[in-house]
This record gives sequence, structure tokens and C-alpha cells, in this order.
Amino acid sequence: MNPASPASSAALPTSAAVAVIGAGAMGAGIAQLAAVAGHPVWLHDRRAGAAEVAIAGIRTQLAKLVEKKKLSAEQFDAASAALKPATALEDLREAKLVVEAIVEDLEAKRGLFAALEALLGPDAILASNTSSLSITAIAAKLKRPERLVGMHFFNPAPLMALVEVIAGLATDAALAATVFATAERWGKTPVHARSTPGFIVNRVARPYYAEALRLLQEGVADVATLDAVMRESGGFRMGPFELMDMIGHDVNYAVTRSVFDAYYGDPRFQPSLLQLELVQAGYLGRKSGRGFYDYREGATKAAPASLAPQPRPARIELTIADPLAAALAKRLDASGSLLALTMADASDGRIATVDGVALFASDGRSATARAAALGIGEVVVIDLMLDAATAKRAAIAVAAQSPPAALVAITGLLQAAGFAVSQLADSPGLAVLRTVAMLANEASDAVHQQVCNAAAVDIAMRGGVGYPIGPLEWAARIGARTVLAVLDNLTRHYGEPRYRASPRLRQQVLASSTSAHSRETKHE
Ligand code: NAI
Repeated sequence: MNPASPASSAALPTSAAVAVIGAGAMGAGIAQLAAVAGHPVWLHDRRAGAAEVAIAGIRTQLAKLVEKKKLSAEQFDAASAALKPATALEDLREAKLVVEAIVEDLEAKRGLFAALEALLGPDAILASNTSSLSITAIAAKLKRPERLVGMHFFNPAPLMALVEVIAGLATDAALAATVFATAERWGKTPVHARSTPGFIVNRVARPYYAEALRLLQEGVADVATLDAVMRESGGFRMGPFELMDMIGHDVNYAVTRSVFDAYYGDPRFQPSLLQLELVQAGYLGRKSGRGFYDYREGATKAAPASLAPQPRPARIELTIADPLAAALAKRLDASGSLLALTMADASDGRIATVDGVALFASDGRSATARAAALGIGEVVVIDLMLDAATAKRAAIAVAAQSPPAALVAITGLLQAAGFAVSQLADSPGLAVLRTVAMLANEASDAVHQQVCNAAAVDIAMRGGVGYPIGPLEWAARIGARTVLAVLDNLTRHYGEPRYRASPRLRQQVLASSTSAHSRETKHE
């Protein structure tokens, strides 16, 4: 199937019975969705009594939705009545869609689908909620492998918008389209993807964790500061370390490891020794009381490092027509600090000159490299922000050539504009820009390798992991040229193929280049 042009189809009628197998966290959530959508739903688990317990749990969840007025009393009654436990697989004979959410084990899933295939009608749809196994491999031994598709929900299924509809090699495109339309009817935002390791989200999200782990390993900042920068400057809902602590390092490491292995050791997915050490120590995150943070009784949560208040600088020149300078001017105005501010032209791309210190937006070069290239001594770079008008925190790095007064001047400016300021060690692309460049690169490569289309990858990252905007949308905002420059600088800096740019991204930049443009590409 060509992921860029999936067929369209009608959703499964709500009169069609849905069977959910596996009454764990995911199965219960999926059964809830199907019941609320109006299907008769059978829930089956091999553990006796588990389906009954799960259905009671679903009814409690539904009752809460009624309290919050998100569900009417009639809908509650209908969904409650629609849910039935099934003690034996044979009870599922009439199901038109089976969603499997059992243990993540290839042989267990193959065995289950073989039994179901023998039992169900030839028109039944077999769907797996696997997050890491190949849909092609699960289907391989079936008599009708074209009837099997991936229907990958995110945890918790009733809340997370995304469903990845995964086509294996044999999957019938029309069947994938029916599952897509059915997920939409269930109130979800589905995307089509080809069965490849990590599908979309678990592949494209890897750099969010990996780059943070590398920054920490290199001492660019501490855990709490990096988390705060990603949240308060980058606009992500959770910082990478608190998110890994929530997911559990055993689970997060295992997913990275499985994607790395599945791509034959591609260095882009290389797991982190820092995280392995946490797993080895049993510091699994929230669930074990300790991860990057300490959750034990009485422990105080580490706070981000913010620079001490500095005086407002005497002379501020903001560059005309620079968007970040414009945002700074507005913020300074709002805080009543606009006095003694002038607008000036600058030919070297700086945002501002503050008491003689040049402030630049990070472009993937370190501040030190930037100062060396420009032949000026007083240079500070500022990390990418999702929205400079509303960001609470700014992350900066100072060139090694700069005197201590450079930090004081820029900190004073940013504090006057209402930012908490975090100083990072001088490194290429700092934290947010480096992470966003790598997310956009992975997103671009997934599209390049025909895993999904460009719209799907952005929808998937917003709906599956709650990113503030899709990585490709973000790349378009900051410019493919800047993303490519960051990646090329990281490649140069580390000498590792990990940072190689996706051919699609490079092609995009070339396609938009005039020869004059291409000569300008910034390199360390
Ligand atoms: P879970 O461990 O909470 O539940 C699995 C349930 O399946 C258990 O109740 C178990 O008794 C039952 N089961 C195991 N083998 C069975 C069989 N052969 N027949 C009938 N029932 C069987 O697991 P969870 O977290 O709900 O995950 C289920 C599936 O969903 C896995 O494939 C997992 O990879 C996938 N998934 C999990 C996500 C998560 O965040 N937990 C997210 C997306 C997918």
C-alpha cells in the first residue's frame, strides 16, 4: 500500500460486534471506546475473571464521564449494557472486528490469530494493538494474512487521540481503510503507516529521549534544568527526563533497544549507557521510587538552575525586522523596560547588541564557533523557543572567547523581558534546537522511507505523544535550511553518522536554493 494515498472506506457499522482480547490496561481502554461508539463488545482474557474486573473498571470510568457531563445517562446505560465478558474464544464467533491486546509476544499473538481465523467468518477483521512487533510477521502464518492489520492505540486509549493503522506486507488496503474510518468514528485521529520498526511514533520520538541523555552525559546542564528548558522554552508538555521516569526506564530502554536492533544497529537509534545504568541499578522511575528524580517519601524534587538577577543593561540595540528582536521588544515594553532601547540594522544575523555583546539565535553552531567565524569576542547564543512571546524560560550559552560581562549583559536583557534564564554549556544546537532538528530529521526520514506521509507524521506526534506542534511543521517554521545546518554541524562536531541528514531534508533545501543561497549555508 502506498501510505501517501490510502484508499477511503466506510467505518464498520455500529451493529457489528467487536471483540477485544486481553483485558489489561490497553484492552480495557479499547473495549470502552468501542462500547461508547455503540458496538456490542465482547471482552476476553485468558485469566479467569479478568474480563469481569475490567468491565467493572470501565463502568467506573464511564460513570466519571457522566459526572463530568462528557457522557449522557443514556449513553452510559447503552455502553454498560453493550459490554460483555467472554469466557471462551468460541463466544467471539460473531465478531466482525477483533482487537488483540494480549502479551507482547510474537508466538502468543500468532497462536491467538490462528485460532481466531479458524473460528470467525472470512469477512472478520483481525487487528493487533502491538507496539513493537511486525504486523507482517504476526500475519505470516495465517491462511488469510490480508485480513490482519495493526490498530495501535496509545496509553491511556480513551484519552490519547492517535491510532496508528499499520499495514503489513499482505494487508488488504481496503481493510486498513475500514479500520481507519472505524477509528475516526470512535472519536480518534487515525493515521496510516507501513509496518516498520517503531511504526511512526515510537521511531520518531526516539531523539526526544536520546538527545537529552547525550546532553546530560556531556554535562551541558543537569536533569531539572534540561527538563525546564524543554518545557518552558521548547513548549513540550513534559521534559524528557520526567517523561522517561514516568514511562519507566526498563520500558523506554527496551523500546529504544528494539528499534536499534530492528534497524540493524543504525547509530541514529543507539541506546544510552546512562539509561542502561539506571535500569541496572533498578532506578526505573516513578514506579520504583527513583529514576532521574527521587520520588521517595520526604525527597525534594530537584529544581532547575536559573541565573541570579542581573541589572538591566544600559544599552540595548534590537535588530530591525528580526522576529526574536520584535518579540523581545514587546516583552520589554509590557514589563515597562523599553527605555533606552534602540532599533538598529545588523548584517551578521544578530538579534541584539547589549552593552556591546552580540546575541544570536542558535543555528547549530556553538557560541564559540560563531564568535570565531565572526571574529568578535562577545557572543551569546539563545536556544530555540516554541513561542518567544509567551516562553517562560530562555536558555543561553556564552562563547569561550567572551568576558564574564557578556553573560551579565544578556541575562539582564532576558530577565528584563520576563524570562527565567538558564545557562547551558556551550554546545552545538543547545537543547531545544538540537532536539527539534533531530525529531524533524527522523520525521523526514520516515516519510522518505515511505513509512507514512508528511501530514501523518505530524498528526501522529501531536496525538500520540502530545508534542506542541508536529516536527515537520516545526521544521517548516524554523526553515529546512536551519535544520539541515544544525544536523551538518552536529555531524561535523561529533564525526558520527548518527546526525546524518535525511536525504529528503537535504533535497528539500536544495530544491528551494538559488546558488547564492547555497553558498550561505552555515557550517562550523
Ligand atoms: P497488560 O499486561 O496490562 O494486559 C495484557 C492482558 O492480556 C493480561 O490481562 C493477560 O492476562 C492477557 N493475555 C495474555 N495472553 C493472553 C492470551 N493468549 N489470550 C487472552 N488473554 C491473554 O498489557 P497492556 O499494557 O494492556 O498491553 C497489551 C498489548 O498492547 C501489548 O501488545 C502491548 O505491546 C500493547 N500496547 C501497550 C501499550 C502500553 O502503554 N501499555 C501502548 C500501546 C500498545
